[in-house]
Amino acid sequence: MAKTIVVAGKGGTGKTTVAALIVKHLKEHADGSILALDADPDANLATVLGIPVDKTIGDLREETLRAMKDFPPGMSKANYIEAGLHQIVVETEKVDLITMGRGEGPSCYCYINNLLRKFADYLMASYDWMVMDTEAGLEHLSRRTASRIDNLIVVVNESPLAMDCARRIDELIPTIKNPVKRKFLVLNNVREERIETVKQKAAGLDLEYLGCIPFDSALEQLVFEGESIYKLDGSPATLTIDEMMQTIGVE
Ligand SMILES: Nc1ncnc2c1ncn2[C@@H]1O[C@H](COP(=O)(O)OP(=O)(O)O)[C@@H](O)[C@H]1O
Ligand SMILES: [Mg+2]
Repeated sequence: MAKTIVVAGKGGTGKTTVAALIVKHLKEHADGSILALDADPDANLATVLGIPVDKTIGDLREETLRAMKDFPPGMSKANYIEAGLHQIVVETEKVDLITMGRGEGPSCYCYINNLLRKFADYLMASYDWMVMDTEAGLEHLSRRTASRIDNLIVVVNESPLAMDCARRIDELIPTIKNPVKRKFLVLNNVREERIETVKQKAAGLDLEYLGCIPFDSALEQLVFEGESIYKLDGSPATLTIDEMMQTIGVE
């Protein structure tokens, strides 16, 4: 079963950046295979990693619904989806990527959604690591996309709205079915002189403080140029992620 790292937090705080930096760290330092799962409908993990994606799970769901009407005898939805899923998983060296795409629709999608979820559970068993970038509201978590969470990382920046979101996530955790082993708070892009204040605001939350990723101009430049985050080396963000991964027990 894959060790799972789920990155959550308000949009704009740096969730995708943190998820991508963790994937990069694992790719370079950890043994075994990695699944990067983009569960944010506003998907951009693939772009930040520099991995081209043709099709999302959302596309496959829509395509199955359209194709169902003309299925030949003997063709089931399960067969169709299974065949389509091979196009969803983008394989690269050590890292495979799946993009969920648009969120789940009305209840008539239920059967297909259940199939997709079963597939996700089955997939997780075949990787050593799973890193998931989530949407701010954590709908995927409450619908149990990731069955077990070893490490939940909640990202906040200086914005009080980001802290509000972290608080909501903290309150949501005990209500979801997924067991969550460890929960961390990561500060991103918080100015040195504000770190203590932000930490104090988070003091009441049931999250272990993992550290602060500083503003990284090399990272900012790479993203601006549309280059893969894999190209970032020895800069403040990667060094901080390396330390954080050691703290949570990932080489
Ligand atoms: N530590 C950092 N240094 C420089 N730029 C950053 C840093 N963290 C995030 N960014 C930039 O801020 C923007 C928002 O980050 P992103 O990871 O997309 O947030 P989210 O996924 O939470 O919406 C992106 O353009 C990203 O490149
Ligand atoms: Mg994002």
